[in-house]
Amino acid sequence: MKTAVVYYSFEGSCAFAARTIKGILESAPFKGKADLYEIKTVDAKKRTGFSKYLWGGSQVLMRKKPALAPLEFDPAPYDLIILGTPVWAASPAPAMVSFLDRHDLRGKKTALFCCHAGGKGRALEKFRALVPGAVISGEIDLRGPVQADITGRLGDWLRNLG
Ligand SMILES: Cc1cc2nc3c(=O)[nH]c(=O)nc-3n(C[C@H](O)[C@H](O)[C@H](O)COP(=O)(O)O)c2cc1C
Repeated sequence: MKTAVVYYSFEGSCAFAARTIKGILESAPFKGKADLYEIKTVDAKKRTGFSKYLWGGSQVLMRKKPALAPLEFDPAPYDLIILGTPVWAASPAPAMVSFLDRHDLRGKKTALFCCHAGGKGRALEKFRALVPGAVISGEIDLRGPVQADITGRLGDWLRNLG
């Protein structure tokens, strides 16, 4: 079983979850291969404090699709594509919107995860709408900051993917 874990992470939680998923999928009972793909924006400036919410929230409201750094990703060889994004303004982060705008996952088996701070709203529903025609075998939301104690929950989730 070959899996791609494609994620965007602004502050580390989704990156931690993606690495954890890779670790689980590459050990027993899965013993498969999982490749990590990190989506990065061309604008790599770090924002902090309240201004990051204004900056990020306005991108969501204005439906911005930020330019992405080059990422060589071909869905063809993968049996499963796991996609992960932080929740911004109760939506998937704009960088994930940009990525899915450029990659057609129709017919592919996918699974979705998001990291949030307790207010995911309809983010997963909006995430699903970004992968039309894909087979969504599971989804999970992780309340951050995501830490090592999510391993058990992620393992259960991965074992139960449809
Ligand atoms: C611009 C911005 C908007 C956010 N909006 C929400 C939100 O609507 N609901 C929520 O629960 N958390 C929100 N958060 C918090 C993140 O979803 C949360 O910290 C998540 O774990 C971050 O994932 P990351 O560390 O991979 O970037 C927001 C964070 C940022 C930077």
